[in-house]
Amino acid sequence: KDVWRIGVAGLGTVGAGLLNFLSDRPGFAPAGGQAVITGVSARSRSRPRPFDISNLPWFDDPVALAASPDNDLFVELIGGSDGPAKAAVEAALNAGKPVVTANKALIAEHGAELALLAESKGVPLLFEAAVMGGTPAVKMLREAMVGDDIKSVAGILNGTCNYILTEMDSGGRAFADVLAEAQRLGYAESDPTMDVGGFDAAHKISILAALAFGCAPTYAAAEIEGIDGIELLDIKLARDLGYRVKLVASADRSSDGVLVRVHPSLAPINHPLAQAGGALNALFIEGTRIGTIYIQGPGAGAGPTAAAVAADIADVMTGAVRPVFQRPAGELKPFTPVDPSKS
Ligand code: HSE
Repeated sequence: KDVWRIGVAGLGTVGAGLLNFLSDRPGFAPAGGQAVITGVSARSRSRPRPFDISNLPWFDDPVALAASPDNDLFVELIGGSDGPAKAAVEAALNAGKPVVTANKALIAEHGAELALLAESKGVPLLFEAAVMGGTPAVKMLREAMVGDDIKSVAGILNGTCNYILTEMDSGGRAFADVLAEAQRLGYAESDPTMDVGGFDAAHKISILAALAFGCAPTYAAAEIEGIDGIELLDIKLARDLGYRVKLVASADRSSDGVLVRVHPSLAPINHPLAQAGGALNALFIEGTRIGTIYIQGPGAGAGPTAAAVAADIADVMTGAVRPVFQRPAGELKPFTPVDPSKS
């Protein structure tokens, strides 16, 4: 195809980053061809934005945009596990259209059923931006590491919480102040409870577990504790003992099943997770044959997250269609959760 016509639903932080990028660099994809936005949808058409959308075809209803024959590829940046995001993704897939999404809640909670639909239509459903923003964790697990049997993945998957904990530690600042700043910087979810309650990190680790272990994403089985109970005193006491408080998300596979959890943890001050400050994300992957891999990078914000969305658009333009998760969707089973009290 010379021109890929792209419909984008959701014009928040990531949507704005994507529109800016594609208007500058429509020919960015390695396969060639132009990526052109031919339709947009958002909650408000008139809200002030850093770019002009007045010349772009507008759809009040994201489902109509998703199903429209006037675009070839649908990008979902609305967010939320149900409601318009899910309806629009289903409409696009039912229309036989490739879908790119940054929506971790949607993939963590409905990934297996959406994968079945995408694979039955023979179209890609890609979500690199859903986990670790601009840091390529999804393709790494799904593609580069399929030759290994992964034992565990663990790390920092929420930029907002990491930013709050880092600033409380280094600046002695109060929780609420730093959260407000994380919202201004475009790191936080529209409902920041998703961040500070640990739910966003749980969505992301559920997706990584599915990619690493060849199971269905099983968010309902995650054990979740956020950072909303952490006080400055906790952070100071941890530091006096040589530790930093970090919100760690982990997924471990054993013969009993899979244990997925998110909880505040103490990391020794020289440990890479303690050293990953600000809004950075970081991930350890322990493989049976490859050994241990560590990656670290931006996990939130307009530029990095839009770059990951663009990488998925490039994959669609290249034409390769892989199973959505590590295995064909018909083979994905929810894993057997392990009782954390017995581990
Ligand atoms: N609110 C998320 C975070 C955005 O802070 O990590 C990226 O998924």
